[in-house]
Amino acid sequence: MNVKKLFDVSNKVIILTGAGGLLGTQYAEGLCQAGANIVLADLDFVRCKKQADRLRTKYNIDILPIKLDVTDKESITNLVKETIKRFSRIDVLINNAAFQEGQKERKVEFEEFTLESWNSVISVNMTGVFLCCQEVGKIMKKQKHGIILNIGSIYGLVAADQRIYGKSGLNSSIAYASTKASLINFTRYLASHWRNTGIRVNILSLGGVENNQNHEFIKRYSDKTMLGRMAKKEEYVGAVLFLTSDASSYMTGANVIIDGGWTAW
Ligand SMILES: NC(=O)c1ccc[n+]([C@@H]2O[C@H](COP(=O)([O-])OP(=O)(O)OC[C@H]3O[C@@H](n4cnc5c(N)ncnc54)[C@H](O)[C@@H]3O)[C@@H](O)[C@H]2O)c1
Repeated sequence: MNVKKLFDVSNKVIILTGAGGLLGTQYAEGLCQAGANIVLADLDFVRCKKQADRLRTKYNIDILPIKLDVTDKESITNLVKETIKRFSRIDVLINNAAFQEGQKERKVEFEEFTLESWNSVISVNMTGVFLCCQEVGKIMKKQKHGIILNIGSIYGLVAADQRIYGKSGLNSSIAYASTKASLINFTRYLASHWRNTGIRVNILSLGGVENNQNHEFIKRYSDKTMLGRMAKKEEYVGAVLFLTSDASSYMTGANVIIDGGWTAW
């Protein structure tokens, strides 16, 4: 056994969607530091490009920034085509891109929640993952290897406790919760479907990250966790490294929960 090798992702080709966001930026930094070749894919190309330039210089590795809309099949086909052109294979896909409505829509009661809001969340958080898995999965199946990591939330496991939100506008919507819950069984289905192909599929369900929310909200949220605080934005990188490396070689169809103990009591 060689522990360093188990966690080794150097030279792996990793597609990361939502790479320009709060957590995507952290995963990109961590995986680049570990020597992976990353495709930074996001709706916001400018942010991805800036990040790619910075990481390329810092870690001296090959990084490909790509504009991606996960709701658009053609955009995903292009992502796959460009990745293969540049790196000839895809070892890992991290489905991290997600959409939450703006604060105004999030305050809306269920009875008034619009079909438009519902559809916009479903199309990114669920249909987007479906499309990315389908297109990238075709390549992984041919290669006879691949790892897919879906990013979920504790709100896919338990209901959002409406009491902690008040008028903060940070409420988590029914659409968001529905997509994150559905991703768990989507993950299991695919893991089962691809059981003999060399493709592993897992999901990481995360708790809330502290990110300049108002003090009262942070306090109320923290009280719900066993560790008494929200996550720091870098605290999920270790799990991503585990789930995208051979260290998790006996894992498929699993839901890994990291939430400071929120769902455990
Ligand atoms: N931040 C948290 O507290 C938290 C908690 C639990 C789970 N999560 C999950 O972690 C993941 C990342 O969250 P985050 O906080 O970094 O979110 P974020 O909003 O900061 O980043 C999301 C990224 O996805 C991109 N995106 C949105 N729509 C897209 C589309 N159609 N095509 C391609 N890219 C698109 C956005 O441009 C953005 O860069 C999400 O799946 C989220 O549900 C986050």
